[in-house]
Amino acid sequence: MAFVSTFVPAVSAVLRRGAPARVSTRAVARSVSTVTMRASKSVPFMEVPPVLAENPSMPGNVEFDPLNISAYLPIKWLQEAEIKHGRVCMLACLGLLVQEFFTFPFYKNAPHLATSGHDYGVKVGGMVHILMAVVIWEALTTPAVVQMINGGDRKPGYFGFDPLNLGKNPAFAVNEVKNGRLAMIGIGGMIHQQWMTNQGSVEQLLKGNFLPHV
Ligand SMILES: *[C@@H]1O[C@H](CO)[C@@H](O)[C@H](O)[C@H]1NC(C)=O
Repeated sequence: MAFVSTFVPAVSAVLRRGAPARVSTRAVARSVSTVTMRASKSVPFMEVPPVLAENPSMPGNVEFDPLNISAYLPIKWLQEAEIKHGRVCMLACLGLLVQEFFTFPFYKNAPHLATSGHDYGVKVGGMVHILMAVVIWEALTTPAVVQMINGGDRKPGYFGFDPLNLGKNPAFAVNEVKNGRLAMIGIGGMIHQQWMTNQGSVEQLLKGNFLPHV
């Protein structure tokens, strides 16, 4: 009886207030959703990843993180990784092109394509030297990266190395990230294209050969 006596008046009150009550609930829901959920700038059919929305001034932040990785790993570490991979790939693109025109005399007998060059490097030991140099560099810089993740004020990618003083241009950090992203995609394309055509990248352009070698 107690149930009926509270339930019936409540239902009839809702029915009486019916339409206006529903409209205002929806209006509240809509205003909440515009605050917490906004479309990503670069992937407009997806929500902006919350961590990227909180860091609008991060260089190169276009709210692109369709896998929402930034929700699970420290954002500064991800940024460090992106910058580092970008720098390595920018050097790799440059190296891949330059060695078609110039090789050090002691590499005269090395194959000129990236994939066979890799195997040659493994055989004669050059790859091991590169690996060792990378390991030493990573070991030396790990403390700085750990400090940064734990709240230090080091900027991701900062190693105090800027002999040409390029950093004085405020656009430089954004340019670096953008060129790095392009280079990461570019080096993947160049290596695969060499693999498919058995020709160097410039050689392909000069001979108009863009199709797999058969
Ligand atoms: C990303 O993950 C966080 C934490 O799980 C979640 O709150 C957020 O809604 C997710 N964002 C997107 C765009 O999926």
